[in-house]
Amino acid sequence: MVFFFTGTGNSLYAARRIAQATHDQTESIAQLMREGTQTFEADAIGIVCPVYGHDLPPLVKRFLRTMTFQTDYLYLVLTYGNRHGGATEVARRFLDGLGLEAAYTNDVLMVDNWLPGFDIAQQLTLDKHIDEQLNGICADLTARRRYLKPATEQDLRVYREGLEKHGDIFENPQFLNSMLQITDACTGCGICASVCPVDCIELMHEETGARAVRPAHDEPVCTACLACINACPAKAIHMPMGEKNPDARFRNEHVTLADLIAANGSL
Ligand SMILES: Cc1cc2nc3c(=O)[nH]c(=O)nc-3n(C[C@H](O)[C@H](O)[C@H](O)COP(=O)(O)O)c2cc1C
Ligand code: SF4
Ligand code: SF4
Repeated sequence: MVFFFTGTGNSLYAARRIAQATHDQTESIAQLMREGTQTFEADAIGIVCPVYGHDLPPLVKRFLRTMTFQTDYLYLVLTYGNRHGGATEVARRFLDGLGLEAAYTNDVLMVDNWLPGFDIAQQLTLDKHIDEQLNGICADLTARRRYLKPATEQDLRVYREGLEKHGDIFENPQFLNSMLQITDACTGCGICASVCPVDCIELMHEETGARAVRPAHDEPVCTACLACINACPAKAIHMPMGEKNPDARFRNEHVTLADLIAANGSL
């Protein structure tokens, strides 16, 4: 079982490549979370997801806390765009705290979809040797290699200092509620709601037509994946904190919109 979580397709692509190499199947974390607590038992169990703030995405942490896993070979592959900041080790420690022993951890440098920090048009000009990295990881996992990617002390210090200074922003409802803004350019097509892994966008039907709304929550519901803003065909969603290139949006070239809807949307 290759459990994956994705906002813009990088981790779905990585999970597919791994599943193909190890003759396994991909399973969507977003879909499984809608079904509630379960126990999974397999020879090998993988978690493939993006790095968020040098850490695991909140939804993946909830998944790991909610489900029970029984396997002799638990592995974790994180995709990231610029600086992993020791995320594999941070995540390994998180698993350890849940009594889950990772046999293998690694990461893959891919396109950075954090729109406030990166211009996607510029990111797409960089050759990050993604397939070469994935080939190495697939070979490791096929051979059931045991390896834990180390983190430097500096990485872990930067992570700790970030937490001390800002708290865990991706678990902060105030930050999440104000992170995105839906503008009047919205045509009510509903794509944003269809790719949202946690169903936190709704379509309001008004006299003038449909329109997407993102109700505020007291709890951290939005998981900050940026699937909605990247998939909106009208570019009607923006980030009030600013974007490096408000005209550029991203989806992994090997992943279709239908793939993302199937991975994240309510079935
Ligand atoms: C909320 C958020 C936080 C992120 N934080 C980091 C980070 O700390 N370091 C990094 O290198 N990339 C970071 N990224 C970039 C993603 O990890 C990277 O683009 C990833 O491959 C996206 O995977 P996906 O396409 O499966 O969603 C972040 C992206 C988002 C949306
Ligand atoms: S994807 Fe964009 S245009 Fe379509 S409903 Fe969502 S915000 Fe509106
Ligand atoms: S509202 Fe947007 S950023 Fe938040 S979880 Fe849904 S798709 Fe992801």
